[in-house]
Amino acid sequence: MNNELQKIKEEVIDRIKKIRKEIDINNLETKYLGRKGELTKILRNLKNLGEEQKRQMGKLANQIKGEIKNQIEEKREEIIGRFSSKDIDVSLPGPKTEIGHLNPLTIVQNELEELFISMGFMILDGPELESDYYCFEALNIPKNHPARDMQDTFYIDKKNEEGEYDLVMRTHTSPVQVRAMQKYGAPFRGVVPGRAFRNEAVDACHEHSFFQIECLFIDENISVANLKAVVGEMLSKIFEKDVTIRIRPGFFPFVEPGLEVDMSCTICGGKGCSSCKNTGWLEMGGAGMVHPNVLRAGNIDPDKYSGFAFGFGWDRLAMMKFGIADIRLFQSNNLKFLSQF
Ligand code: FA5
Repeated sequence: MNNELQKIKEEVIDRIKKIRKEIDINNLETKYLGRKGELTKILRNLKNLGEEQKRQMGKLANQIKGEIKNQIEEKREEIIGRFSSKDIDVSLPGPKTEIGHLNPLTIVQNELEELFISMGFMILDGPELESDYYCFEALNIPKNHPARDMQDTFYIDKKNEEGEYDLVMRTHTSPVQVRAMQKYGAPFRGVVPGRAFRNEAVDACHEHSFFQIECLFIDENISVANLKAVVGEMLSKIFEKDVTIRIRPGFFPFVEPGLEVDMSCTICGGKGCSSCKNTGWLEMGGAGMVHPNVLRAGNIDPDKYSGFAFGFGWDRLAMMKFGIADIRLFQSNNLKFLSQF
């Protein structure tokens, strides 16, 4: 019987080593330790032995049974992982999956594009690294014109064939005006949501890389009334409520007359704060009727067509819409900030 027990032990251990599936370990357990299992049978037959032999064989058989049980358990854990099914609470909620959030600038961009498409406008793009010609000259700002000082330009340190520094990081989205006129002619309606760059001291309402939305509408008999209507549509779409704006005369060489549009600051309710430099008003954009020289640069006859254009600070639209007090937050990659939207 001693030999029989040792043989069973070796056989079982050898089989366990080769097992890879839970079902096989269960079957093996039944085969040897189950009610009619081979080891169980031997233990049951011990009663037929003499006292001394019963004691010795009983001890050995129980020891082997214990070893086999341990090996089976170890194998089972190895196959099904550290936890057995009784340790898993299937009713517990699963781990939370983090989902991304749209930057508030993207939310405003989507709303603006949807609105302008619904009004029959094209959505255009243009180069951020722009030629001096489209950024300034074609917009009626010749070289050495004092209006060039209105925007602190990043000039690119590379001369063209004429030995001039010809490339700039566009300071506004207006260069796409003449590009669009040259490509599409008149009549035309389009908007350009895009990035602009200025070498400015950064503060709560000024970034060096910021966003503008440019709008250009050219047709016969276009007037300031059309400009006012489209600006009104845009603001009511973004703010979904009446907002207080003021329009004052402004100078931009590429429009005549020129206008500036301010909005009552929604951060302080017009009382004055750091976001509006304590004035209660935030400058949102420039606008006006396209200058005849600009129409000519775009190969459009100013005697037949007129048009309006505006360029709004799209970061500032988002600041006023969501009550964001500091423009620097938009591009800060601060997840706490972004996850609020
Ligand atoms: C312009 O850039 C003109 N191109 C706008 C225009 C277009 C006038 C078409 C007439 C016709 P201005 O420099 O004022 O204008 O900028 C327009 C708007 O861009 C500002 O009112 C402001 O909302 C935003 N903006 C300008 N500079 C910054 C800056 N550094 N940071 C954030 N927003 C800015």
